[in-house]
Amino acid sequence: MKKFYLTLGLAVAASAAVNTAAFADEAASLDLAKKSGCLACHSVEKKVVGPAWKDVSAKYKGDAGAKDRLVAKIKAGGKGNWTEVTGGVPMPPYSPRVADADIASLVDFVLSIAK
Ligand code: HEC
Repeated sequence: MKKFYLTLGLAVAASAAVNTAAFADEAASLDLAKKSGCLACHSVEKKVVGPAWKDVSAKYKGDAGAKDRLVAKIKAGGKGNWTEVTGGVPMPPYSPRVADADIASLVDFVLSIAK
């Protein structure tokens, strides 16, 4: 029995560590989004000027080419994919203002929202 509780304790501790890591990743990504200026127009939960990132994530769920297209869209800006939500406001271009690696990690974060 003692062994069982020990194993259970370790499992709980391990999953708590995983959750904490996921939370830290999310906090770091939101911090990067804030520093990059994205949160002026986006939030995870709600449409601001641009679409809610949870809706972006849901739209491209399971779409293997989405990452490359979204990276390109953030670099060059553009419109047309969310007209019914935004009324046709364009997404501004972010390259070279935001480093390519940061854009890639922001896209990874957005796509990870819809599990
Ligand atoms: C000035 C407002 C504004 C800012 C700042 C902004 N966005 Fe956007 N974003 C938009 C709008 C408007 C759209 C919808 C474009 C469309 O209809 O295709 C959009 C769309 C998107 C999409 C979905 C693109 C698609 O084609 O489906 C992603 C991902 C995104 N933004 C990420 C970001 C990131 C990351 C940043 C910061 C580096 C950022 N946005 C900054 C306004 C903004």
